[in-house]
Amino acid sequence: MARTAKLTFEDRSIDLPVVEGTEGELGLDIGKLRSSTGLITLDPGYGNTGSCTSEITFIDGEKGILRYRGIPIEQLAKHSTFVEVAWLLIFGKLPNRAELDDFRERLVRNASLHEAFKHHFEGFLVDAPPMAILSAMVNTIACFPRHGEQDESPEERFIEDAAQLISKVRTIAAHSYRRSMGLPFIYPDPKLPYVANFLHMMFSMPYDTHHASPEVVDALNLILLLHADHEQNCSASTVRTVGSSLANINASCAAAIAALWGPLHGGANMAVLEMLEAIHKGGVSAADAIKMAKEGTDGFRLMGFGHRVYKNFDPRARILKAAADKVLGQLGVKDPLLDVARQLEEMALEDPYFVERKLYPNVDFYSGIIMRAIGIPTNMFTVLFAIGRMPGWIAQWKEQRDDPKSRIARPRQIYIGANENDYVPIDQRP
Ligand code: SDX
Repeated sequence: MARTAKLTFEDRSIDLPVVEGTEGELGLDIGKLRSSTGLITLDPGYGNTGSCTSEITFIDGEKGILRYRGIPIEQLAKHSTFVEVAWLLIFGKLPNRAELDDFRERLVRNASLHEAFKHHFEGFLVDAPPMAILSAMVNTIACFPRHGEQDESPEERFIEDAAQLISKVRTIAAHSYRRSMGLPFIYPDPKLPYVANFLHMMFSMPYDTHHASPEVVDALNLILLLHADHEQNCSASTVRTVGSSLANINASCAAAIAALWGPLHGGANMAVLEMLEAIHKGGVSAADAIKMAKEGTDGFRLMGFGHRVYKNFDPRARILKAAADKVLGQLGVKDPLLDVARQLEEMALEDPYFVERKLYPNVDFYSGIIMRAIGIPTNMFTVLFAIGRMPGWIAQWKEQRDDPKSRIARPRQIYIGANENDYVPIDQRP
């Protein structure tokens, strides 16, 4: 028996269907609300509003559960790799060996950029924000169609588009770093696997190939895998919104990169390091930071803390906190910022302000410590988040594109502006 909820307003009432997910989540289908009652809903930030049904990622914020296509993030963190998780998210299952080998070959084939991209890089100032470059260059991919792209079947075109984005976003990121350092671009090496190839393009020098240690490659694989998707977050909602107008996948992902840039979203990992460094340098004490966050001094927030969905621990933060200890130990790195982070976490978790609001460390709180230890510059942290999130954006875009019930995203509003009034010629205005 289909479940419904009754809504009564003045002399009107409507039975709204209740949709139940496979994990017991309940949603009110308000598709007929406006036509039946003239009412719309109002929910700034969409904290109570579902935009879609999805099979990709499941989060239980109260229990700290995160699963990609049903597989717990803890198992994927322990056993999988970023490239395998990318396939899982996009195609809905773990790849068999032939599928994984084919996907890896596509990533190798699509790693290089058209030589004309160099002129685009040269057009940026050397200190241009890497996220601005990344968004612009991902959009520019659409300006360089693959040879024979027009003859590809829709299935072939999608998997090549996906491989192209996942592979090239890494090359673009590395090139933007090299440009900022005044160093020559290092081309992708087809013999290197995904993460090692990125580190090669970032840190090799002509005639002096950078060989990243297995510990560093594993650490970066873990970071990218943990960032790969997170259901309907701000940037995933952006990729769906832009994709709903039938914009191409590169433009949709370029828009998602722009959304991720914000300090309340992916930009938080850089803001966490800046906050930890300010505390470490002595400008601000940990207690000061906690006090400013509680008082909202100049809008200050404890960056890396809090989450719209997780009202308990973020499972990714728990994994990254353990990984930080392990990676810094393996690399023999002593980073005082890790001690500052731990001190902040302990203070916040004992403070009623944070406890009452259920504010816990999120994915961004410890990720920067690890990226710093493996040599990634702070201004590239959000770029790394974008590289990790690319498979998730692609999976969300495809699911929305394949949904027969999908429509162009076009929310309503409640108008609170001026009522009708007449035009006044300029010489009669006050
Ligand atoms: C990511 O959505 C996702 O899934 C995102 C993400 C992903 O994988 O895609 O998980 C990645 O973006 C993680 C979040 C990274 N951002 C930060 O770490 C920035 C700091 N955190 C916040 O600004 C905030 O917690 C958000 C943006 C993460 C969540 O914002 P909400 O859900 O809109 O919560 P809110 O702003 O309404 O806050 C509720 C209360 C407020 O206090 P009151 O008005 O009730 O008194 O909690 C307070 C806020 O002031 N609060 C904080 C705080 N976060 C919330 N106070 C101090 N420090 C903070 N970090």
